[in-house]
Amino acid sequence: MDQIVSAMEFKRACVIGSPIAHSRSPLIHNYWLQHHGIAGSYDKIEVKPGELAAFFASMADRGLVGCNVTVPHKEEALRLAQHRTPRAEEFGAANTIWFENGELCADNTDSHGYEMSLDQDVPGWDKAERALVLGAGGASRAIIAALLRRGIGRIDLVNRNFARAEDLAGLFGKRVHAYGFDQAPLLMREADMLVNTTALGMQGKEPLLLSLDSLKDGALVSDIVYVPLETGLLKQAKARGHRVAGGLGMLLHQAVPGFAAWFGTTPEVTPALRAILEDDVRKAGG
Ligand SMILES: NC(=O)c1ccc[n+]([C@@H]2O[C@H](COP(=O)([O-])OP(=O)(O)OC[C@H]3O[C@@H](n4cnc5c(N)ncnc54)[C@H](OP(=O)(O)O)[C@@H]3O)[C@@H](O)[C@H]2O)c1
Repeated sequence: MDQIVSAMEFKRACVIGSPIAHSRSPLIHNYWLQHHGIAGSYDKIEVKPGELAAFFASMADRGLVGCNVTVPHKEEALRLAQHRTPRAEEFGAANTIWFENGELCADNTDSHGYEMSLDQDVPGWDKAERALVLGAGGASRAIIAALLRRGIGRIDLVNRNFARAEDLAGLFGKRVHAYGFDQAPLLMREADMLVNTTALGMQGKEPLLLSLDSLKDGALVSDIVYVPLETGLLKQAKARGHRVAGGLGMLLHQAVPGFAAWFGTTPEVTPALRAILEDDVRKAGG
């Protein structure tokens, strides 16, 4: 009897994507499971393009209570879900899936994760009146939503592909203004906050070649890249005396709502958990 009860209470969740080997989500969730003494597991499962619907249909049989979703399935996951949070609808992509009464629910926690990470790492960040955001990809959308929600009055968005910046700015209305990447040094003069959401500066990618010489004194610099932990942009900002925030906090905090939905406990992002992730990134050469 005891065995039957414990088998029923054991909950499984996972992260799916393709490729998936690189994911650090298991480190986070398995730490919380152990910390809270919850009988459960969190694994990585490779789900190839075209296989998402079949995977979702198999989740109950596999004993899965939910999953995180990464590239290339985020948009399709949203379409396939029966219920979607307003923020997942707003971003057009899902990163967190769970079941409610047997039906698939979808959320997108990136924007929330970014907000919470800045609250923890650089409290008071939302006093900024004007922000300069580099990059107009999927992550940029979540960052801009967070900045607007927290009352940043004006956002200047620069991107290599200007049309992409214009399209993204158009989704958000009058407070977001699109420019070409070459305008960044000029716009920096007025920015209380500079955020890199491009892949530049990430290990294995090209460096972000941007001098901060014209950045306003006292501006905050945030980089959502977290491999390496301290990007070239953050090093440069620190040397100039700016407050900085790296990307690891966003990764950690975006995981909180999923864990709460699957395992029924809202976990915390503690220094001990952060140290485990930092170690792992360093081992990978970051
Ligand atoms: N900390 C976290 O939790 C977290 C979460 C999500 C993403 N991220 C990181 O954020 C970064 C972007 O992710 P994403 O999903 O937004 O990717 P994405 O949708 O592919 O967008 C990539 C962005 O980088 C720009 N870019 C790429 N190569 C460039 C180059 N050589 N020169 C100038 N701009 C370049 C792109 O500009 P174009 O439009 O001109 O191509 C675009 O703005 C990645 O490094 C990712 O690891 C971190």
